[in-house]
Amino acid sequence: MRPTMRLIPALLLLCAASAAQAAPFPNGNAQTGEKLFNQYKCNSCHAAMLGGDGSAIFTRADRKVHNPTQLIEQIRFCSGNVGAHLTPQEEQHLGAYLNRYYKLP
Ligand code: HEC
Repeated sequence: MRPTMRLIPALLLLCAASAAQAAPFPNGNAQTGEKLFNQYKCNSCHAAMLGGDGSAIFTRADRKVHNPTQLIEQIRFCSGNVGAHLTPQEEQHLGAYLNRYYKLP
């Protein structure tokens, strides 16, 4: 086999690995996250702060969240605001939903 032929499977593996990374919340379901988000009225404060439906808080230029860990931490912090005790699974759902805005790799 020529060396270039051997490279191809390696490249395919690399692609598969980065595709997996493209979803930082693989165990979360964005639709379930959206339901939780509405159920807990998550945007009530954000809307009061920024107007509109409040989701501008996730796309503002100086937003705080820059990686999946920070997103989970912020979800945890904010869920305290609404007195919600989220399970790790619910945090993943919310993360998957909010990543529609963040598009974190
Ligand atoms: C009591 C008011 C309040 C409620 C309710 C609330 N938040 Fe927040 N949220 C805030 C405030 C204030 C900030 C901005 C924090 C800052 O800028 O330091 C924020 C910021 C955030 C951010 C980060 C935005 C950024 O800058 O990247 C996320 C994500 C978030 N909230 C998610 C949620 C979720 C999920 C819920 C529902 C479980 C929720 N919030 C409910 C007040 C609230």
